[in-house]
Amino acid sequence: MTDCMSGFGNHFSSELVPGILVPRQNNPQKVKSDLYAEQLSGTAFTAPRGENRRTWMYRALPSVSREMGQERVAFENFAADAEILDAGPVPMRWSPRPEPHKACDFLDGLITLGKDGESFDSTSLSVHSYVLNQSMERRALKNHDGELLIVPYAGEIDIVTELGSLHLTPTDIALIPRGMIFRVDLLKGPAAGYICENYGKPFRLPDLGPIGANGLANPKDFIVPSARVEEAEGYDIYSKYRDRIWVTRGTPTPFDVYGWQGNLVPYKFNLANFVTFGSISVDSPDPSINTVLTSPSHEPGTASIDFVAFCPRWQVMETTFRPPYFHRNVMSEFMGSIQGVYEGKATGFVPGGASLHNRMVPHGPDVDTYRNGTTADLAPHKLDNTYAFMFESRLPILPTKCAVEAVWRQSDYLRCWEGFEKRMTVK
Ligand SMILES: [Fe+2]
Repeated sequence: MTDCMSGFGNHFSSELVPGILVPRQNNPQKVKSDLYAEQLSGTAFTAPRGENRRTWMYRALPSVSREMGQERVAFENFAADAEILDAGPVPMRWSPRPEPHKACDFLDGLITLGKDGESFDSTSLSVHSYVLNQSMERRALKNHDGELLIVPYAGEIDIVTELGSLHLTPTDIALIPRGMIFRVDLLKGPAAGYICENYGKPFRLPDLGPIGANGLANPKDFIVPSARVEEAEGYDIYSKYRDRIWVTRGTPTPFDVYGWQGNLVPYKFNLANFVTFGSISVDSPDPSINTVLTSPSHEPGTASIDFVAFCPRWQVMETTFRPPYFHRNVMSEFMGSIQGVYEGKATGFVPGGASLHNRMVPHGPDVDTYRNGTTADLAPHKLDNTYAFMFESRLPILPTKCAVEAVWRQSDYLRCWEGFEKRMTVK
């Protein structure tokens, strides 16, 4: 941990050689070792100070000297090449995506499962899935469109960014800022996970209101990498720009930043460090109590996206149906399971699996979970070894054709709600 820093939203700095970073200035006439100074802005220059994010990098080559020529490349089932299907307001659930049967790096293994709009400029998010069984060799990705929240459920990876690298195992999450170049190295595979691509305001920690100054995801538990460089040539840099993929071939390595300072940074957080709050009297709180990160919309109190996690916790509520209640929400929910058994479904929602319940689509406990919930002994009970998450969007999430037609989609999902008996009849 000595080569990492911790905190959320603060100003960080890292240098491999003392003297690269100097007091007072960001852009001195001569940087130590004649490195090039370059700023990456994540917000408008004039964004309020509390929201303003930018980082200065001191590197062997300026980015502009690398990304000169771009050619368009097609990716089957990813980004603009993933066709949206008008599937209607139907609940959907998927088993884990099969492991790749041929050599596949992070880029090869990306598919888009859903988008929350057909007009790119008015969307909040896209949901992607990744699988890989090899490292990205001399390939790197830069996303012009949004930041990427990466949620692994299998394997072990290093995300190598311009500012340093982050080591991820399941229950870790990571965020790559918009515009930051990165590649994914495989340490133990195959590896797989989900990605929320956020087109809106950068994710931030939610306000805590009456909870007070501490709790949920604490800032000190976010990990930020330190500077790291490599000597390499012959990189292909892929750019996702307006949902289309372009490539510049044969460039020097983009991982040549010897020092940096700023608050636009990649970071990771282990969900095991999430401090869960809940009811100690009756009833279950709404799932918003489990918000890890939020991207606000322009409407006060309404997120563009919430990233919510369901982590190990005690349940002690009295005279209460403890599993998630039946509901229809204005927000749309893409859920995934990372580890263990999810309390809301007795079977079928397993680690690596996912579900989609769009705006006002009814859902809730399956029949077995309902029966158990209404008859269970209400002694204090630990929900242990369970990690699930939700990408919650203010807009409906439209599934792609490849998600709807995936062989790992559970076509019999609706049957989990068959068998509820009608209770009262009017007399
Ligand atoms: Fe729900």
